[in-house]
Amino acid sequence: MYRKACASSVQLMHISMPTIRCNRTTSSSTTTATHKEQSAPPPPLRPRANALTDEIIRVDHAGELGADRIYAGQMAILGSGPMGKTIEHMWEQEKCHRAQFEELIRRHRVRPTIMTPIWNVAAFALGAGTALLGEKAAMACTVAVETVIVEHYNDQLRQIMESPNPDKELLETITKFRDEEQEHHDTGIDCGAEQAPFYKAITEVIKFGCKTAINISKKI
Ligand SMILES: [Fe+2]
Ligand SMILES: [Fe+2]
Repeated sequence: MYRKACASSVQLMHISMPTIRCNRTTSSSTTTATHKEQSAPPPPLRPRANALTDEIIRVDHAGELGADRIYAGQMAILGSGPMGKTIEHMWEQEKCHRAQFEELIRRHRVRPTIMTPIWNVAAFALGAGTALLGEKAAMACTVAVETVIVEHYNDQLRQIMESPNPDKELLETITKFRDEEQEHHDTGIDCGAEQAPFYKAITEVIKFGCKTAINISKKI
């Protein structure tokens, strides 16, 4: 009975979802645009990013890489089960987020964090590990991660708006992604995260891990 309620909320989420600007999108409506984009020359490189932009792009690139790997880990365990479609939908959005920050890191000539290979493995292990504990534990992981990311993006939006020369593209990108991360959080709650065994302990540990990874990725 619960699962039915979860599935219907996910369908509503699909209907209200804003269009994703991402050439990884597989729907037929965006395929034509993707082909056109592929023939266009890539956007020009920008002058080297200032310190704030540099830090924001590096840490967000690391975070979106981690999110992509967490959902990949969840899909490896739960992809063929009843939660498969829900997780896949969120994973597709994370792939878009990652692709967008890979483009920004290239265009602004920002150095990626040296922790990239470690985050890659750790994030997949986190997604797969919590999924092995069950669907609700996987959703608890989603809620914990997305809570931290929404707060992190809100902090960055404040920082950018307070800066002397706010980067409009970065503001728009982070605002859009923040809204999608909030949807992922809400999906996790709708799908029973809070009913996971040791919900409080699981989410607190994951939140601490995410905040630590963010602080490290900002600097190195
Ligand atoms: Fe994301
Ligand atoms: Fe997300």
